[in-house]
Formats: sequence, C-alpha cells, structure tokens
Amino acid sequence: MTTEDKATEHKATLSFSDGTPSVDFPMMKGTVGPDVIDIRKLYGATGKFTYDTGFLSTASCNSTVTYIDGDAGKLLYRGYPIEQLATHCDFLEVCYLLYYGELPNAPALEEFKDLVMHHTMVHEQMQFAIRGFRRDSHPMAILTGLVGGMAAFYPDSLDINSPEQQDISFVRLVAKMPTMVAMAYKYSIGQPYIYPVNRLGYASNFMHMMFATPCEDYEPNPVLVRAMDRIFTLHADHEQNASTSTVRLCGSSGTSPFSAIAAGVACLWGPAHGGANQACLEMLEQIQADGGMAKVGEFMEKVKDKHSASRLMGFGHRVYKNFDPRAKLMQETCKEVLAALGLENDPIFKLAMALEKIALEDPYFVERKLYPNVDFYSGIVQRALGIPTSMFTCIFALARTIGWVAQWKEMITDSEYRIGRPRQLYTGSVERDVPPRRGRS
Ligand code: CMC
Repeated sequence: MTTEDKATEHKATLSFSDGTPSVDFPMMKGTVGPDVIDIRKLYGATGKFTYDTGFLSTASCNSTVTYIDGDAGKLLYRGYPIEQLATHCDFLEVCYLLYYGELPNAPALEEFKDLVMHHTMVHEQMQFAIRGFRRDSHPMAILTGLVGGMAAFYPDSLDINSPEQQDISFVRLVAKMPTMVAMAYKYSIGQPYIYPVNRLGYASNFMHMMFATPCEDYEPNPVLVRAMDRIFTLHADHEQNASTSTVRLCGSSGTSPFSAIAAGVACLWGPAHGGANQACLEMLEQIQADGGMAKVGEFMEKVKDKHSASRLMGFGHRVYKNFDPRAKLMQETCKEVLAALGLENDPIFKLAMALEKIALEDPYFVERKLYPNVDFYSGIVQRALGIPTSMFTCIFALARTIGWVAQWKEMITDSEYRIGRPRQLYTGSVERDVPPRRGRS
C-alpha cells in the first residue's frame, strides 16, 4: 500500500492545557484492523514525545505478513486463516507464502523444497564452535551463538540491499535452523551429531537429526511427523511480537540478517514469550507431583492472588482476548499424538484439560479475557514426541525463523524504513558536577 492508499479524510487533533497550540495529525487505515494516527511530526511540531512502554497503543511499522484479530481469535498469514493453512499446507509451503507473499503452485513448491533441502548442512567448523560451550549450557544459549555465528560463514549477507543476498540468507536460515537445533541437543546429551538427510521431508529430517544415532536409525511415525510440522506452522509468525520487533529493531541498523535473527532468538528465550511452553509443562508436572487433581483448587487460588508471582502458564495473551486459534489446533494435534502413542490416559493431558475447564469458568479469567494460548498444549505434544523440555524454546525458534526473516525482508525493502530509535521520558538526575572521591558519601 502506498502512503496515498493509507491516507484517510479524517484527522486527529491533539490539544494541550499547557498553552501549546493544538496540532492535527493525519489518520491512516490498513486493509483491516484499527486505524492509526500518524504522529511522526509530533516532536517537530510540539517538542513533545508520546509515552507508550510495552507498545500498548503503538504501531511500529507497516506490515503485510500476518494479521491477528485478538477479539475474534483470528490469525491470518498473508490473508489465509491459520486453520486452513495448518490443515491443507505443510510448513515449507507456509515458509514460501510468508516470504514471497503468495502460495506456490506445485512446480514452484517442489523447486523450493529441493532448494531448502539442499542447504541443510552447516559448515563443519560449526561443531567446533559448539565445543566451546559447557555441556550443560541451555540449548537456547548455544542456538543464539550459532545463529549469530552464521554471519561469519556468510559475510556477503552484509550486503543487505542485494535481493540475491536476501533470498539466499532466507533459504540458509530456514534450511540450517533444524540442523543447528539438533546439534545443540546432541551436544547437550553427549551424542554425536547426525547429518541431515535431504531426501526426507523438513520435519522428518529434523526428527531424524534429533533422534537417530550412528548405531540406530530413526523411523518416524507419520502422525508424529505431521504433529511436528504443525507445531512449526502454528509458530511460524505472529505479527509484531517481542522477538519479531527485536529482529526489526536490530536489523534496522543494517546489520547482517543472521545477527538480527540471533537477537530474535535471544528475545524469544524469555518465559513471557517463547519460554512459556517449557514453563507451562513444568507447571503441570509440578501440580501432578504435588498431588494432581486434588491440588488444582489450591493452585488456582495461588495464580489469582495478586501477591503471588505465579501465573497460570499457557493462559493469557497481549493480543488475543478470545481463544488463541493455535491453541485449538494444538489441542487437536495433542489428542492425535497421544492416541497414536496409546497415551490417551496421560495424566498431564488430563490435568491440562481439567485446568482449562476450571479456568474458562472462573470469573477471574473470564473478566480478564484470559484464554488458553498456543503454549498450553504444545508442551504436552512435544513431550509426547520425545523432545525434552529444555528444547521446547529452540523448536519455537526454529519455526519462528521464517516469520523473522519475512518481517526483516519486508522492513529493509520498505521505502519508509529508518533505523529504529525510540525516545524516552528521562527521570534521572539533572546535570551536576562530579564531586572529589573523598567528599562522596
Ligand atoms: N495467570 C493469572 N493471571 C493472569 C495471567 C495468567 N496466565 N495472565 C494475565 N493475568 C492477569 C494479570 O495478573 C492482570 O491482572 P490485573 O488486571 O488484576 O492486574 C491481567 O490478567 C492482565 O495481565 P497483563 O500481565 O497486564 O497482560 P499482558 O498483556 O501484559 O501479558 C502475558 C500477556 C502473555 C505475558 C500474560 O498473560 C502471561 O504472563 N501469561 C502467562 C505466560 C504465557 O503463557 N505466555 C505465552 C504467551 S503466548 C506465546 C507467544 O505468542 O509468544
């Protein structure tokens, strides 16, 4: 959309009680979603900034990639509902869509899959980089280092305005992320790395690298491969969340895409973002260990208590004030996986279902519009697939890489792109002189 397309006939007028003359601001509209007030000229016109910690009311960019309607519980990638994509497309198809903007036809998809699956190997030196880490390092710490380290192997990627470099960086990131995640895992358990097998599909190759050993091959169950692929699709992008905004801000300086994506990996690690699925499963296991269903009431009182730091992990979302559509799909996958493995009576799954029911009927959660998010069931699925909790956030990072790259590319090819540089409300000391050391209290 051009600036003219976004313009509306409406304006917003800001008036002040401190004598500053009132100012008019243009209003812009997107294809769908709330209108925005273009305040870029505010500082020039008034010498004042806006204040919006946590970006509660601030649109930081234009984007055509993903749209969330939080009240309706809707998630669209390039306009397509997540339910349809998760049912009819595989992850690499979704990667193509997110990066290029349209779904591929059959020959284009085959060509793309071939391209990605022929970039799965990482430089052999990567394994020596990993050896510098302690064996008990968190895999996310290793992954942050490896992704950032890719810039050392592909220095040409610094030519960020070259469309060829943008495209090959995208392919390399999507192709090599599973290899690096699996390497981080194998290192942590003291097993040799397993090289990628390019004739396998994207998800089955990943599972092969995770679970095969030089002594035993791994024959993945198709239900489990499909579940893995769906986990990737459901986590592929989520508009301007914390890690994506981090990638954009870091990338806005013109740094290598690998450095920008490494910043995204680092941000994702936190428990309020990508670390929530690990935190959620650990929470369920703790309740189970403390007495299971008998302790649910006590636990729910704790998460509602303002003086307690506990939260019902896997519940609530900054944008969704309704069901997270990914949570419904993940619950469906959870049932399929547990059935395929004969684990229908899994106590943790039963506990999760019971907690969900109680929370959805509890006025505390109802009034605050707190619904299950994608992480509520994804931990149970991953645990059933044999993935240890310490790897959950790495899997999220693997999946979200496509979203980060698509949004990075969108930013650097946007004519309105400028380095991100927020302002502040300074509340520190006014200017003062440095006292001599002896005279300091
Ligand atoms: N359990 C109990 N109370 C909650 C929860 C929860 N999970 N989430 C929010 N609240 C309460 C919160 O205490 C506050 O209550 P009050 O108005 O009385 O002070 C109210 O709901 C609003 O919460 P908030 O922290 O202001 O909301 P936010 O938009 O800043 O936070 C959130 C969103 C996701 C960080 C938060 O809901 C949370 O911590 N959830 C648990 C962690 C989690 O599951 N995170 C995964 C998010 S989805 C994955 C992703 O897309 O990255």
